[in-house]
Amino acid sequence: MSKKLFIETLGCGMNVRDSEHIIAELNRKEPYTLTQTIEDADLIIINTCSVREKPVAKLFSEIGIFNKRKKEGAKIGVTGCTASHLGEEIIKRAPSVDFVLGARNVSKITQVVDQKHAVEIAIDYDESSYEFGEYRTNPYRAMVNISIGCDKQCTFCIVPATRGEEISIPSYLIFQEISKAVASGAKEVMLLGQNVNNYGRQFGNNEEKINFTKLLQKISTIDGLERIRFTSPHPLHMDDTFLEEFAHNPKLCKQIHVPLQSGSTAILQAMKRGYTKESFLNRCEKIRRLSPEATISTDIIVGFPGESEQDFEDTMEVVERVGFEQIFSFKYSPRPQTQAQHFKNMISDEITTARLQRLQSRHLEMLVAQMDAQIGSFCQVYFDELKPNRRVAGRCDNGRLVFVEGSEALLGKVLTVKITHATRTALEGVVWE
Ligand code: SAH
Ligand code: F3S
Repeated sequence: MSKKLFIETLGCGMNVRDSEHIIAELNRKEPYTLTQTIEDADLIIINTCSVREKPVAKLFSEIGIFNKRKKEGAKIGVTGCTASHLGEEIIKRAPSVDFVLGARNVSKITQVVDQKHAVEIAIDYDESSYEFGEYRTNPYRAMVNISIGCDKQCTFCIVPATRGEEISIPSYLIFQEISKAVASGAKEVMLLGQNVNNYGRQFGNNEEKINFTKLLQKISTIDGLERIRFTSPHPLHMDDTFLEEFAHNPKLCKQIHVPLQSGSTAILQAMKRGYTKESFLNRCEKIRRLSPEATISTDIIVGFPGESEQDFEDTMEVVERVGFEQIFSFKYSPRPQTQAQHFKNMISDEITTARLQRLQSRHLEMLVAQMDAQIGSFCQVYFDELKPNRRVAGRCDNGRLVFVEGSEALLGKVLTVKITHATRTALEGVVWE
């Protein structure tokens, strides 16, 4: 009988992919089946995020709950970014944890799983050429890492401390992995990295140096691959050649994440983001001009130390001018191992909350108008997920989520849909062909 694995994944797309890698590696050693029930599991893994403080605080109460509910002899492992930055401390605070595996050490899962209190968190570990086993949560949707780590030192961000130096994965491995996913049914790939458009700056071995635009061109030649998405690019590396490729390559989905963080040049400088309000606006204007059908999403941090009313107004102005289709907005959260944790001029929670609310409610107004404007339009939807009540979900080329009534016969197909209803988060429609 195969062992049962319960795995909880928090945080970003890279963590989702790391969980898939963990499952694939465990299965190379011995068969595991996934379970959603703690009580049934032989192995419980919490794949953590540490970008903001809240999920870290939750981790220890969760370990306590899992430890009470788990069956006799079941193991608990903590993996991911919180594992990287807390390391041994996790086992000291919660001795019921059997192993700790950092975000940069996923490939070592089979080594630590049978050891009591193993801790593997080296952030200089190079697994950029490691050939992971194959496992995908959803065969229609392939996520593929193109780099590990991050070389930027944004002053608010813990990621460089948890995921280490940035190393690109050799393009032949990326090509191979996507080709395999396509052969087993995926028409769409999501390329993942903390800083995807910095691809090719540094490899682990002497690989042929190609940049992100060249990588996109190379991947586009894969037969049967119809759609390519990527996240996250950095505004600083959006050169004209890349934006032209984005606009003119028909396999590149017209959806782009351009993380703003702040609209104020002074705050951007304090964050060490490397661009100004004007250069950010210039890139977004260029995207709108070259790719008018594209949707632009962004991340914004509110209440960074020293953020004045005028700084926040600058952020609101950028929001108005770009008209982002999606905004992920966060209150600034001081993180260990970052420069900004030592910055003075912390903004009170009261002010930060008020600013966040203002930003979110303005964006909601913009979003409702944008989504309502889709009613009556047609879009090409790639169906990749069966939902309850005979509903099937998919995404338009520009990333908008669409539901239609149907069966699994729609899965893996790209079909024309007429949009009939809209909510804030999704569109509904009927298949037109
Ligand atoms: N490489 C990615 C960022 C990864 S972290 C990029 O450049 O887009 C994801 C998002 O979390 C960031 O874009 C930022 O908006 C937010 N974030 C990171 N550190 C944070 C902090 N200390 N407080 C609040 N939000 C933070
Ligand atoms: Fe973090 Fe900046 Fe890298 S937000 S992941 S240090 S690009």
